[in-house]
Amino acid sequence: MPSPFTGTIFATGDIRRFPVLDSTNRAAMEAAAQGAPEGTLIVADEQTAGRGRGDHRWHSPAGEGLYLSILLRPPLAANDALWLSLIAGLAVHAAVRALTTIACDLRWPNDIMLREKKLGGILTELATEKDQVAHAVVGIGLNVNQSRFPDELTALATSLRIETDRAWPREELLTALLESFDAEYRGWLSGRRTRAAIVRDFESVSTYARNVRVEVDDHGAAQFTGTTEGLDERGFLRVRTRDGVRTVFSGGVRKCS
Ligand code: BTN
Repeated sequence: MPSPFTGTIFATGDIRRFPVLDSTNRAAMEAAAQGAPEGTLIVADEQTAGRGRGDHRWHSPAGEGLYLSILLRPPLAANDALWLSLIAGLAVHAAVRALTTIACDLRWPNDIMLREKKLGGILTELATEKDQVAHAVVGIGLNVNQSRFPDELTALATSLRIETDRAWPREELLTALLESFDAEYRGWLSGRRTRAAIVRDFESVSTYARNVRVEVDDHGAAQFTGTTEGLDERGFLRVRTRDGVRTVFSGGVRKCS
């Protein structure tokens, strides 16, 4: 079947849809290892072992959220892989806005937030060769039509349906998301979208990026608190502490209560 995404990274038409998968990221990493091309897309209606960041699972009930993974083969140093998560966040923001007019928030590096709760998340996984990205999988989970969450997630997660009291068409959201991701990715790869512009755009749609008191959990480094001071030119988060400005390279942040 010809791809509906002519002229995009999804034009290969390698769009693999599943009613149920353990994890679209797992499947995409496997497809990549078997030589699948850039733009291969894995979408599932339900995940039984959706992967979240750290040791977390991603709650992925049937028919309610969007669960997808995009296989990429960018000519990129592994140290620069953060850009993939940042542009994915911008793409989700644009797609949600286009369909619903809701301006969701981005929490560095890859949380999609709405009213301080998680609306979605991005998990970028990499295979590297000599410090270069051999392939990358950008996994995106978005809470669309959930009307409730398990008790342990109620205080942490929300969905478009909960926030707007109506259901949203997941297919249209998926199409908008693929279009916005394609535009972001190709703009970034070609250099038409500069890193400075991506940083500026990320900061402009993230209430967390500046002047917010946060607790930082930087993987491998100690936890600390401070006030966000925007992203640096490599896309890392700057946080002012009593001892000066620190750069957060990985992990994540939480608003101090
Ligand atoms: C996070 O912890 O915030 C990241 C969550 C990423 C979840 C998505 S759902 C589609 C893709 N497949 C996975 O197994 N995980 C990602």
